[in-house]
Amino acid sequence: MYELGNLKLKSRIFLAPMLEPNDIAFRLLCQRCGSGLNFTGMTSPFSKHEIHLDDKPAMQLFGNSPRGIRAFLKKYDDKVSMWDFNLGCPSTSSEKMGHGAYMHEDLETIGKVFFYMRKNTAKPCSVKLRKSPNALKIAKMAEDAGFDMVTIHPRTFKQGYSGKADYDYALKMKEELKIPVCYSGDVNEKNIAVILKDFDFVMIGRSAIGNPNIFGGEKVGFLDYLKLALKYGIYFRQIKFQAMCFTKGEVSARSMRRDLVYAKNLEEVEKVFIKSLN
Ligand SMILES: Cc1cc2nc3c(=O)[nH]c(=O)nc-3n(C[C@H](O)[C@H](O)[C@H](O)COP(=O)(O)O)c2cc1C
Repeated sequence: MYELGNLKLKSRIFLAPMLEPNDIAFRLLCQRCGSGLNFTGMTSPFSKHEIHLDDKPAMQLFGNSPRGIRAFLKKYDDKVSMWDFNLGCPSTSSEKMGHGAYMHEDLETIGKVFFYMRKNTAKPCSVKLRKSPNALKIAKMAEDAGFDMVTIHPRTFKQGYSGKADYDYALKMKEELKIPVCYSGDVNEKNIAVILKDFDFVMIGRSAIGNPNIFGGEKVGFLDYLKLALKYGIYFRQIKFQAMCFTKGEVSARSMRRDLVYAKNLEEVEKVFIKSLN
């Protein structure tokens, strides 16, 4: 067992927060395969949607207003393992709203958010950062606020998801901090063991999309996803998106994807995968 704040975890390998792929059915499969902790995609504290949390994930929040955080934490605190704050999203909508990676200059608001989070929950809290001139300062603010972990994705917001992830930058951050550091950025089957020698935790993002088996353990596939998706009432477009993702690594991936493009209902989507088993 590994400790993260007051949590006991079976693995140091986590599912990274990803807005589109991390629906409840997908997260439950990652957990079944051995993910030590799942992160939800970024969630607004003003969200009115029903949020399924049966995997007891780390729920990630975003926004530049500490308002609303208290009520949201109270509402979901029993159902999550941990709370995370997003300071990494590089999207244009985050730019317009001054959220995510675009908040790094606003240390005052960040300080308030950390304060409200820490004050309103006994669960572990963390922050996810990108590389920036203020990233280390913010990480230290999190440490001083009583946070339990910092995740670093060492790319600038301008790099988005491409270009080299600056591993040395992340190492330097690890050296400077007393609290555990989780590494994110191009993590895959080949480099995970090395990263775990340098960092306390690691999270897998894109390599896990359509591939919960990357966490090891039980073998699962799209049909397992579908069963869970139906249980949770996940809508058709999302199921089709996941179906496309799950073709990754299939021998007939190209023709499966072509068939999926034309699939108009669940039966047709399911048929594509049943055909691939024969
Ligand atoms: C489709 C997609 C959605 C993402 N959504 C989020 C998000 O909601 N919050 C967040 O902090 N990071 C988000 N990320 C970033 C990942 O958590 C991760 O830091 C990044 O992809 C680098 O890791 P990787 O190379 O293992 O994918 C997202 C990434 C992808 C590919």
